[in-house]
Amino acid sequence: MTRIEVVQGDITQLQVDAVVNAANQSLTGGGGVDGAIHRAAGPRLAAAGRALAPCPPGEARTTPAFDLAPRIRHVIHTVGPVWHGGTRGEAATLASCYRESLAAADAVGAHTVAFPAISTGIYGYPAHEAARTAVTALRSCPTAVERILLVAFDEAAREVLAAALEAGED
Ligand code: APR
Repeated sequence: MTRIEVVQGDITQLQVDAVVNAANQSLTGGGGVDGAIHRAAGPRLAAAGRALAPCPPGEARTTPAFDLAPRIRHVIHTVGPVWHGGTRGEAATLASCYRESLAAADAVGAHTVAFPAISTGIYGYPAHEAARTAVTALRSCPTAVERILLVAFDEAAREVLAAALEAGED
């Protein structure tokens, strides 16, 4: 049974097998959590990402975690949708990010995976809607991953993610 939990903090400091990165299609870094992960992993991450790019929105690519190790072994890069008001299939693309990232985690045998709140920063996706889409997608995915951490970077995000988890309780 896969456990889904909300934690608050910096995703690069977590003790998990894999961290999911909210990347852009170039996979060579950027701002937000992408910038934090690249800074912590070191320059080899951008070189590895470049070799796998472009990554279309909704898909995932896996690289080693380089200097993030030994705590973290894999970085799963996924590209979320830019929010345009919800009329351009954003929810379906976001759900695909979570599904494809979980499949990528299974492919490398990760037991624990941490997700940032994909698309809710620079890409402008409303946090409440994104959290509901994330929880619904993750709960509908068969996976061998034992523990999924939804990482909130601040208290407001933590409350939104916790509410989405509770709302989805059977
Ligand atoms: N740990 C955990 N979460 C973080 C961290 C961190 N160190 N830094 C930022 N976040 C959170 C943000 O607060 C937000 O809730 O990650 C979530 C996603 O925000 P962004 O990083 O801005 O990602 P996104 O909205 O998906 O935009 C992606 O931004 O950085 C560029 O290259 C990236 O073009 C891509 C775009």
